[in-house]
Amino acid sequence: MAEMDLFADERAADLAEAEKLRREIRHNEYLYYVLDAPEITDAEYDRMMVRLRELEARYPDSIPADSPTQRVGGRASSQFTEVRHLEPLLSLGNVFSAEELRAFDERVRSGLSAGSKVEYVMEPKIDGLACSLIYENGKLVRAATRGDGVVGENVTANVRTIRSIPLTLKVPEGEAVPELLDVRGEVYMPRQAFMRLNEQRAERGESEFANPRNAAAGSLRQLDPQVTASRSLSFFAYYLVGEGAQPKHSESLALLARYGFKVSENYKVVENIDEAIKYIGDFNELRQGLSYDTDGAVIKVNDVYQQRILGATGKDPRWATAYKYPPEQAETTLEDIDWRVGRTGVLTPTAVLTPVKLSGSVISRATLHNEDFIRAKDIRIGDRVVINKAGEIIPEVLRVVAEKRTGDEKEVEIPNVCPECGWRVERQGEEAAIRCTNPHCPALGREGLIHFVSRDAMNIDGCGPSVINALLDAGLVRDAADLYSLRKEDLLKLE
Ligand code: IVH
Repeated sequence: MAEMDLFADERAADLAEAEKLRREIRHNEYLYYVLDAPEITDAEYDRMMVRLRELEARYPDSIPADSPTQRVGGRASSQFTEVRHLEPLLSLGNVFSAEELRAFDERVRSGLSAGSKVEYVMEPKIDGLACSLIYENGKLVRAATRGDGVVGENVTANVRTIRSIPLTLKVPEGEAVPELLDVRGEVYMPRQAFMRLNEQRAERGESEFANPRNAAAGSLRQLDPQVTASRSLSFFAYYLVGEGAQPKHSESLALLARYGFKVSENYKVVENIDEAIKYIGDFNELRQGLSYDTDGAVIKVNDVYQQRILGATGKDPRWATAYKYPPEQAETTLEDIDWRVGRTGVLTPTAVLTPVKLSGSVISRATLHNEDFIRAKDIRIGDRVVINKAGEIIPEVLRVVAEKRTGDEKEVEIPNVCPECGWRVERQGEEAAIRCTNPHCPALGREGLIHFVSRDAMNIDGCGPSVINALLDAGLVRDAADLYSLRKEDLLKLE
């Protein structure tokens, strides 16, 4: 009997410790993924997760579904099931100028009783894909893509892997937990994650995503949640439907933030259309520096009662519309093509351009992806080319201005030897990539070492590409193992 008690005590202590860890981990995930303001190191976070997994392994029957360890669960399925939305997922009409915005404001005011005061909420238009999240009694039970607006795809297992989405609402103690909440928002891929993903794909000879929106859509529609989990997706909440909705949209946004969702810090309540137009100009400056893509601003009538009176036409509400910024493009000359070898031996072409200003920065290089891209666009050296920012961040050659050709342009020569080591290169089967065939190509070593010390791998502080280059040039390292036998005297010899 005494022995039984001992076990019971130990079990109770373990379960209490596990619950405490879950609370701490959730709180720190909120600080990191939602507020972007971590208070602990990655190592401390990892230690808590390891301990929690250890405790949960002892009592597998007592693991709650909303434990931070349970984000990636379930196995790959063969297809997505259909879900009927509680209320249709509306889309938005578009406007492209201040005049059209004023016309929108006129339509809104003429739809309401004469002299009504109309307040608007201005928000960034996030470039991702719409998603509806259903919370029952505070727990995330279902997530669905828009689909045709009435019926979407059930992507719950994938959405659970997005760490800025709470599995349980953060309802302050003493406050009622809403029975049913339908949170709408945008799943998106931050620019950095997008660039990293494309780099990895290029090195593996896989096709790159054209922009972060396509990457987000492709990542959310993965049949294996494990893949989605590896893709660093995030979520901005921008609309609350049904029971939880507040009388003012801005109050719903504030409530969503309190429940633990990421809500754009750039939304603003404005008093009239002039202020709305000013916001659009100001936000155009601001959005260049954001860590995610926006393709416009959304204007919404703040008063939900007024929203109801206005209603919708087909798929678009009459109380909201999207202002789309014109895509930024610039024309310049393609002076040369630089072929570089990545750490997996793939040769990637980069356009060397006459420097030109685009979206507030000076651009002198643009990606050309691979040989097929160059052929499809019939790109020649010396061409005048139009560049834009694919996914708003990486410049890409959009097209050649063929009418400006002088006849002096030169065909692009696809290398048949590696620019690093001179060995033969080859294209295999259906692959778009050209690879160096030398298993000992120095680029493999250099690029491989740069990757090895980078944040994605061993995360060695203070050791970036220039240090690796210096170490290689000085003959101090040849491979990753050599990094661990470096002595202080060796390093002091370097610049
Ligand atoms: S509101 C009825 N707000 O843009 C409300 N949509 O082009 C409908 N989007 O379908 C949506 N940012 O996927 C809203 N702040 C924002 C948004 C936003 C991005 C997306 C959403 C929508 C599409 C329309």
